[in-house]
Amino acid sequence: MVALAPNPLRIGLTQERVPAPLLFVLFGASGDLAARKLIPAIYRQFQARRLPAQFALVGVARREWTHEIYREKMHAAVEEFAPNDVGRPGVWGDFASRLFYSPLNIQERESYLRLNELLDRLDREQNIRGNRVFYLSVSPKLFPSALEQLADTGMIADVSKNRIVIEKPFGRDLPSAQELNQIVSAVCDEKQVFRIDHYLGKETVQNMMVFRFANAIFEPLWNRNYIDHVQITVAETVGVEERAGYYDSSGALRDMLQNHLMQIYALAAMEPPVSLGGDGVRNEKVKVVQATRVANPRNIAACAVRGQYSSGWMSGRQIPGYLEEPDVNPESATPTFVAVKLMCDNWRWQGVPFYLRTGKRLPKKVSEIAIFFRQVPLLLFESAAQQLSPNVLTMRIQPDEGISLRFEAKMPGPDILTRSVDMDFQYGTAFGTKTADAYDRLLLDSMLGDQTLFMRSDEVEAAWRVVTPLLTDWEDPDASHRVSQYEAGTWGPAAAEELLTKEGRRWRRL
Ligand code: BG6
Repeated sequence: MVALAPNPLRIGLTQERVPAPLLFVLFGASGDLAARKLIPAIYRQFQARRLPAQFALVGVARREWTHEIYREKMHAAVEEFAPNDVGRPGVWGDFASRLFYSPLNIQERESYLRLNELLDRLDREQNIRGNRVFYLSVSPKLFPSALEQLADTGMIADVSKNRIVIEKPFGRDLPSAQELNQIVSAVCDEKQVFRIDHYLGKETVQNMMVFRFANAIFEPLWNRNYIDHVQITVAETVGVEERAGYYDSSGALRDMLQNHLMQIYALAAMEPPVSLGGDGVRNEKVKVVQATRVANPRNIAACAVRGQYSSGWMSGRQIPGYLEEPDVNPESATPTFVAVKLMCDNWRWQGVPFYLRTGKRLPKKVSEIAIFFRQVPLLLFESAAQQLSPNVLTMRIQPDEGISLRFEAKMPGPDILTRSVDMDFQYGTAFGTKTADAYDRLLLDSMLGDQTLFMRSDEVEAAWRVVTPLLTDWEDPDASHRVSQYEAGTWGPAAAEELLTKEGRRWRRL
């Protein structure tokens, strides 16, 4: 057997995963994301002994909390949002002794100077040697002030030791993303910047790379010669919940499609990277997104559909429509559902449609990517379903994480009659373990300085460029077309079905 040549550039996702001594500064420390996701994720890393011995976390927010109040609040957050991870009281106590709090007015220089004093003190006491991660989990309109103040007070001056993590959304369209990128590049180096998209932290999303590039049998088929089309679905059962303040001015296109779905798309469609290091993967992702466009940029109605949920029944409960949700403008045209047909103009994908859809209040929480292969060129057999189904490879991102391949098999009996069957891999049964939360991985990567799973400035801008024709068309004040309604608990407006049926295809039944 021929030995496999090791790649001399095999770094990045495979590197030794122990961060150097570190101060982690969390802006937005009293917010929802911090309580639900960030603090539980950091605490799990602490319990798994993946954090350095010299480690402290400083929470920063407007409220006048003390260190003690902050510790109590975070304990309550872990109990509420990660009850299985609470651990023994001693373990929490040890973690809590590393939590500190500094009240901060995001626009006020004195607050930053006070914060810096605390950081310097903790740094000296624990011999942290200047390594700091600033995590901005604040309203996007505050990003510029926070970045400018951090720069003015010298807190992000050291390119090799100071990092900034920026939560989504990164801009609300191409010009605002470009403007934010300019502010970022004026105050720090791209090497310091970690633009987060939590979908990239999901094991199953990363597994798309392993599946494609660690197996010899799929990549030769991964192109226009064998693939008919690709469907990417991210469906949620939840509605807007208490987030109307943000969501009503954002909607499914900005909240989900421009980032999470485009990232899944990029990993599915990109060329093999030369390495897994910081820029290897990102270079390929940006190339494929730059080659991508909505199918008919001049006729959006022909290639994209938007919808908004109306009242309906889900799990035996009547669900209010989007316009009846708290804090939603009753005249709102914000889409809670989007479906779009994308095309990628490169040698691999020319002519292969990628259909992406996402929505809230759909019948099921499910995220997956389904690759539909071409039909066989000649039908030799009769199928029980009257029509031979194409092979479909499905990567299930969540829940029920796994991969399945649908193919035709002979039905038992004297006749040669075929039926579609599935070959199935499930994470849970194969590895006997639950997949980790996306934030566990991404927070650790930010501490390690590994940018592979974070978005580079050009990537974000390329993704905004793809959705710009949709934004322009849908937000044209003269456009009389309103968003169509779909009943909560259904798969979106009828037009979403037509997007595929008019081309002789169908969304996968989920
Ligand atoms: C967030 C969106 O980025 O992702 C939410 O702002 C959405 O609206 C969430 O509900 C979905 O994430 P997940 O991991 O539950 O699929």
